[in-house]
Amino acid sequence: MNHTTKIITLAAATLAAACLAPAQQAPRTAAQQYKNIQVLKDAPATEFIQSMRFLSTALGVECEFCHQGTRSVDTPNKIKARQMMTMMAKINADNFGGAQVVTCNTCHNGNHVPMNAPKPTGQYSTDGPQVFYKPTAPPVGATDDVMYEAYKEHTEAEAKARAAATPTVDQILAKYVTALGGETAIRKVTSRVVTATVEAAPNVRGAGPMVFTQQVQYSKAPSVMATAIQGFGGAATSRGFDGNETWTQAANGNVAPVTGVDGARAKRDADFYRALNMKQEYTRLTLTGSDKVGSRDVWVVNGAVTGDNPDTLYFDKESGLLLRKGSYNTTPLGKYVINTDYEDYRDVAGVKLPFLIRTLSVSPADTLIVRVEKVESNATIDAAKLAKPAPRQPAAR
Ligand code: HEC
Ligand code: HEC
Repeated sequence: MNHTTKIITLAAATLAAACLAPAQQAPRTAAQQYKNIQVLKDAPATEFIQSMRFLSTALGVECEFCHQGTRSVDTPNKIKARQMMTMMAKINADNFGGAQVVTCNTCHNGNHVPMNAPKPTGQYSTDGPQVFYKPTAPPVGATDDVMYEAYKEHTEAEAKARAAATPTVDQILAKYVTALGGETAIRKVTSRVVTATVEAAPNVRGAGPMVFTQQVQYSKAPSVMATAIQGFGGAATSRGFDGNETWTQAANGNVAPVTGVDGARAKRDADFYRALNMKQEYTRLTLTGSDKVGSRDVWVVNGAVTGDNPDTLYFDKESGLLLRKGSYNTTPLGKYVINTDYEDYRDVAGVKLPFLIRTLSVSPADTLIVRVEKVESNATIDAAKLAKPAPRQPAAR
């Protein structure tokens, strides 16, 4: 893939990494699109490549592990993979009501030959038998009954402590707004111009050095956003939402609407006061537990969205800031997860903004690193920068 096509892909990918078909017409199937599909015949063609990326990462292999020459030629590993797809569908049908519970990743977890024996570590759990110890002494007489009582006490005490320390979703959202600078400061800013350098994989395989582009994002309250991307030595592309319509302009000058889930995601991205409007954006917000993002402890909140898969939001327990947003696309083999991490928050005109935004998924095709260089708050933005552009003639060569 050359730079120009990459930049078009990049524009589409940053708008929304999904490629789900619009719900209206029956989507083209994988069997219609490709030459030799025997198992995933009825899967939407738009989900097929993501399912290939999914299984490659699940097995920890490159595409060539199964594909030699053209992708439609059968190889021993490809045939094995087909059998595995059928086995997986049967396991789910027989045991989980057909839900996508067991996937390639459940067994393989990054190995092409799954480990069928646990690694010897010398203890059953990472907790080890210390969980039975009261603050000072080990349980007296380690019979099963005594151990069981100690274990019950330990787990009950833990559950209690956890419950006492658990905030409500409202508290998490309020802490987030405060961490950003508070609602008053946030509402004082009504427009913003953000200049950033964007680093992306040079092609869908991630082969070769990263490609750099410059991105200028113009946004205005309540909900207008336009992003212009200039490839260094390549053509310009842009995308946006003018409050009414979503659009994207390709390097060849063509302007097209962004439809379906992609369009809906682009509109959500354009909400200038998104941090204040979480309860409007999500139909339901549920605290699902604790986790870590890097070394930070986070609260994990699931946000349901009408007409799209839910987002998973990770809020720093200590600072209150949003450190990660996870979304996923549906594929016939499992969830294709895309995480966006927000790092290096800095104060600009009283509002904290992430200066490093990293998108990481199962394939290098989705890798994107945005490094913010300059932020202008309350700048007057030329209306032409925000408007849907007219198609432009391709530059003469
Ligand atoms: C573990 C084995 C495996 C790996 C790794 C794998 N594939 Fe596949 N691929 C398959 C199987 C199996 C099929 C056929 C699916 C079916 O019959 O339903 C297939 C089919 C395809 C096809 C359709 C070819 C045709 O014309 O019929 C394409 C395109 C493809 N794979 C691309 C990729 C890409 C790109 C990667 C790497 C990101 C990849 N595959 C990695 C097993 C694999
Ligand atoms: C229920 C567990 C399970 C699931 C689910 C599963 N596999 Fe496997 N897979 C295995 C086991 C176990 C082996 C090793 C078999 C052996 O050693 O002969 C294996 C072997 C393979 C191999 C051969 C690898 C080699 O190096 O020989 C391929 C390819 C493969 N699986 C692909 C897949 C794909 C693709 C999926 C998802 C569609 C999948 N598997 C789902 C358990 C599973």
